[in-house]
Amino acid sequence: MSEIMLQQTQVSTVIPYFETFMQRYPRIAALAKAPIDDVLHLWTGLGYYARARNLHRCAQIVHQDLHDQFPDSVDALVALPGIGRSTAGAILALGSNIRAPILDGNVKRVLCRYHAIEGWPDATATQKQLWPLAEASTPKTEFAAYTQAMMDIGATLCTRAKPACTSCPLKRGCKAFKQDRVAELPHRKPKKTLPRRSTFMLMCLNPSQEVLLEQRPASGIWGGLWSFREFDTLEALQAHSAQHHKGAKIEAWPVLKHTFSHYHLDITPVLARLKTLENAIMEPSARLWYPLTLDKQSSAKNVGLAAPVKALLLQLEATL
Ligand code: ADE
Repeated sequence: MSEIMLQQTQVSTVIPYFETFMQRYPRIAALAKAPIDDVLHLWTGLGYYARARNLHRCAQIVHQDLHDQFPDSVDALVALPGIGRSTAGAILALGSNIRAPILDGNVKRVLCRYHAIEGWPDATATQKQLWPLAEASTPKTEFAAYTQAMMDIGATLCTRAKPACTSCPLKRGCKAFKQDRVAELPHRKPKKTLPRRSTFMLMCLNPSQEVLLEQRPASGIWGGLWSFREFDTLEALQAHSAQHHKGAKIEAWPVLKHTFSHYHLDITPVLARLKTLENAIMEPSARLWYPLTLDKQSSAKNVGLAAPVKALLLQLEATL
């Protein structure tokens, strides 16, 4: 019960929930027989509700299939819903005083620093190095004390930011500490290298200080938001402008960088100062002349804008 509650959750948050659950469900059978809605109700506020459902199913399996015999091996425990290898180790070591290694997020950090292990701790290659170290670090006796100590060191001293190395009982053997690499280790999740794309945005400004915007298709990037017309190349933009906005003065602005979850976008904004008040509204629903000079509260300005477009409109206002 406590190990499931303590997944991703601090001890101080868990304590009142643990006490309530132990009062209400003192035996596995009681939890197994409880309606799931009662369990979920008591879990309210603890978060990650899949844990409550899994815990309830675990109780039912242990009660019905295993006849209330709680599993006493890592393999039998990981076969239950919601129990991974590290949680299985913690349950066995703390609950049954059985020797089994643990390697949760906190312990990974302690071991990565202690042994100066390179790589992101959750990478498969790093885990392959860490599990044997976790196994080798587990003592032959006092598994429970060791397990709780490693978790507590990770949670309180060997924290990600500002670890308390001078108070740490492991500092004499800690490679990261000796090599002054505590801030660097463990390595962070590598950033994906995102592809870089470029686009040219045509900002048509008419003599009434209005800018032409188009609504983007409902699906895809900036779906339904208002933006400038885009071109793949400067030449394509110039050709369009020469044809549709005769005599307009064209001025390329510095590149604006924008990052989406899956690519970087280099935006070259190009200002076209139109000579006349042309009526470029062919499909009135999908285009509008956005009045730069009107007050922010004006309903004409009440449209959803893509973030870089918002920034560009502010820059345009500043040039008026
Ligand atoms: N997180 C998971 N198990 C824990 C435990 N036994 N003590 C502290 N934090 C934990």
